[in-house]
Amino acid sequence: MDPLVHLPSVPLRQRTQSTEEFNAIPAHVYPCNTARRADGVMSVAGVPLTDIAERYGTPAFILDEDDFRSRCRRLAKAFGGGQRVHYASKAFISKTVCRWVAEEGLALDVASQGELQVALAADFPPERITVHGNNKSRDFLTLAVESGVELIVIDSLQEISLLSDVATSVGCEQDVLVRVTPGVHVDTHEFIATSHEDQKFGFSLASGAAYRAAMACVDAKNLSFRGLHCHVGSQVFDAAGFVLAAERLLKMWAGLLQELPREEGERLNILDLGGGYGIAYMPDQQALDVEHVAANLLEKVAEASYKVGVPRPVVNVEPGRAIAGPSMVTVYRVGTVKDVETSDRTVRRYISVDGGMSDNIRPALYQAEYDVRIANREVEGDLVHCRIVGSHCESGDILVNDLPVPNDVRPGDLLVIAATGAYCYSMSSRYNMMMRPPVVTVKDGESAVMIRRETIEDVLSLET
Ligand code: LLP
Repeated sequence: MDPLVHLPSVPLRQRTQSTEEFNAIPAHVYPCNTARRADGVMSVAGVPLTDIAERYGTPAFILDEDDFRSRCRRLAKAFGGGQRVHYASKAFISKTVCRWVAEEGLALDVASQGELQVALAADFPPERITVHGNNKSRDFLTLAVESGVELIVIDSLQEISLLSDVATSVGCEQDVLVRVTPGVHVDTHEFIATSHEDQKFGFSLASGAAYRAAMACVDAKNLSFRGLHCHVGSQVFDAAGFVLAAERLLKMWAGLLQELPREEGERLNILDLGGGYGIAYMPDQQALDVEHVAANLLEKVAEASYKVGVPRPVVNVEPGRAIAGPSMVTVYRVGTVKDVETSDRTVRRYISVDGGMSDNIRPALYQAEYDVRIANREVEGDLVHCRIVGSHCESGDILVNDLPVPNDVRPGDLLVIAATGAYCYSMSSRYNMMMRPPVVTVKDGESAVMIRRETIEDVLSLET
């Protein structure tokens, strides 16, 4: 019988090619204050990840506060004026994060009653909140209107009458945008593309539904129609999609202005182009250059407005991932390391860590790829073909499907996965009764618990 052989490390373009490269840290994928010290230990904002693991246990999310805040500032500056940039809180929300966002002068986008409640609990200024959702309940809308949110983005005809009714009973007028699907197809995973026809969000531009919805808002009692919204998708790298969507919306805008009475038309001045700016999860990716995107988008909006003969609107944007994503890493402890024979009689090494699909569902859901390093030391072995898996009772519990890792990675090592700040904690679950990890903030050599680890007592206390 042929001897089993370890698969050679596949020279995939985005994969590490050598042990030396594996020990290096691709700076653009990790929080800006990440370093590997002379003794081999990785640190974020001056806090060694070994200390984090010892003090708070594993798995743990580590959030670099300066990194998060600097991304807020960078976007606000790029778009000129903090009010226009909304942090899409679905990426990751906590009261502390809401406070940071408020302090950095940004606005906030919430997509559920719970997100709104967290923002309000953090005293986030409601006049800087935009509310989303394709199925907002009366309770949610009532809370939004009563707390004085700036904008509610209308997603269905049913919602127009419901919100009109709510605003009337609260006794105030509510500013609204209409969510439009401009039919722009962006190159991203189908689950996070949102601008094609035949999906649940918004009103189709092509069919005229968006136009009719806008007119219905104008007619609705106690609603003030302020503009249009679209979000073409998430993790988008070709900014042409944002421009095309803006141009299409402005054409519709011009049509509306022709029909609206002057004072109604004058209120129309917000064009919200959503979020979606792609970030680097892997060393060979480059994040969208937000300064370039912003300058280009604002210029193209000005040109398109001029072309269709409407006053240039205020541009709102709603990035989530581009702010939260790169600011966090997840630290796991390596447990079982097992060599498994594959169907072609080669061997794949399975490295199990103490978290998994409950703290990061993205690989299973979107085939998302992640960068992996060892945090407690520099490794030395030759690269072998590996799969990083979690501890869940499910074979699809894979964090990284296929990567070369030095063969001396062993139980007890700390394994770090980069760019886990967006849509990991916020999409986490308690599958297999694995408790949600803590989120630990780091800044200037100090760490603090932002969200503590869930305990079995938390869970048991929910049961009556
Ligand atoms: N605005 C609206 C209306 C949105 O629907 C979204 C994302 C955003 C802004 C923020 O998009 P971002 O800048 O973060 O790409 N769970 C998926 C992402 C779903 C995004 C849903 N909407 C993932 O893990 O990739």
